[in-house]
Amino acid sequence: MTDDPDRYRRSKELKRRAERVIPVGTQTFTKSAGYRVGDDAPFFLQRGSGSHVFDVDGNEYVDFIMGLGPVTVGYADERVNRIVRDQLEDGVLLSQPHPREVDLSERICELVPAAEMVRFGKNGSDATSAAVRLARAYTGRDRIAKCGYHGWQDWSIADTDNDSGIPDSVQPYTQSWKYNDLEDLKTLFDEYDDIAAVIMEPMETEGPDPDFLAGVKEIAHDNGALLIFDEVITGFRFSLGGAQEHFGVTPDLAAFGKGIANGFPLSVLVGRADVMRELKDVFFSFTYGGELASLAAAEATLDVLENENVIDHMWDLGETLQTRTETLVERHALADHVEMKGLEPWPVLDFEGGANDPDDYDLALKSLFQREVVNRGVLFNGNHFFCDAHTSDDIERTLDVYDAAFETLSDAIRDDEVYERLDGEMISPAFRRTRHDGS
Ligand SMILES: Cc1ncc(COP(=O)(O)O)c(C=O)c1O
Repeated sequence: MTDDPDRYRRSKELKRRAERVIPVGTQTFTKSAGYRVGDDAPFFLQRGSGSHVFDVDGNEYVDFIMGLGPVTVGYADERVNRIVRDQLEDGVLLSQPHPREVDLSERICELVPAAEMVRFGKNGSDATSAAVRLARAYTGRDRIAKCGYHGWQDWSIADTDNDSGIPDSVQPYTQSWKYNDLEDLKTLFDEYDDIAAVIMEPMETEGPDPDFLAGVKEIAHDNGALLIFDEVITGFRFSLGGAQEHFGVTPDLAAFGKGIANGFPLSVLVGRADVMRELKDVFFSFTYGGELASLAAAEATLDVLENENVIDHMWDLGETLQTRTETLVERHALADHVEMKGLEPWPVLDFEGGANDPDDYDLALKSLFQREVVNRGVLFNGNHFFCDAHTSDDIERTLDVYDAAFETLSDAIRDDEVYERLDGEMISPAFRRTRHDGS
């Protein structure tokens, strides 16, 4: 708990007002109250600048959430804002296409291996759902083999714990399989002969085993299905051409979102020209497609990512954070409970209970750690996303904070006081679990 009872006063007031007029208090599940530890955490942020954010009570944080991933240059970065401001002067939504659509599409075709043609959406879900519809139309098949989280639409959520409001009849058309498990994918193809596409995040909290991604592609193609990479998180972070460029496996279609426009709403569907041309018949169309503030932001973002070597910077920061955090975990004797997973551009701090611990011990540990680091000025949800504005000072400050929080965690575990220290307040479980995970 924080020592200052007023530290989050305005946040608490706003939260109470929000809960009266906004279901779950905000627009995005993972920003909702369930993902913060009780009232003892900031809920409302006022502004961001570079790699830092400021809450409505004036507290400052080093941020590694970065708007859930999209902010790759930095909050309120003038290099992006200047171009967007110029576009505002000319209008952001015109009644016919604008040259920016062509310019940005050509640029993406140069950068992304799978991109022979390009379409734009707003949310990542637009791009993944368009890819799925396109694959169904192209193959004449209905079933989807998915691995990871791909957005809020029926087909993506149908086989998860969050399936309320989705017709049961939809569910059999989505079948999940396990990352890094080619045999599991083969079993799905043995069972179903109508799989249109394998859609997957090329990297989850673990990286791909050697030959895994190539193996997925081979299995999909041998069985007449398309391979779709969901690069909504990995895109414009692992490499300018995405994880597909980094790992050297080119899918038939790929969905990008988040990292391309420094927080402006833009997603991208790319793919083989022969498949993408089917979009003349497959309906993927909406009022704000090609909205110009976001296209302008994407051009400016790509300029910074390319000219300032931002991808290398992200890999370097990630490497330091990973190795030094691992050292801290060892030093505090927490290796049984805390692990730094993921690859350098997307490290994930993961918490685990032991065989004799209660089922939700992992969540309790994460809750306690989260509360400790947030109260010390680091905004944390487990993921670490970097941007051009992050500095080695940010990393040093974060490591000092992690050091102190690990000490608290270690003491609480030793004294068997983890739940007591949380005073009944815990974060919600991640909602990615599928029935396939047995949850
Ligand atoms: C891998 C992945 N795919 C798709 C999505 C959906 O993107 P959006 O929330 O922008 O619709 C997300 C969102 O977190 C994601 O992480």
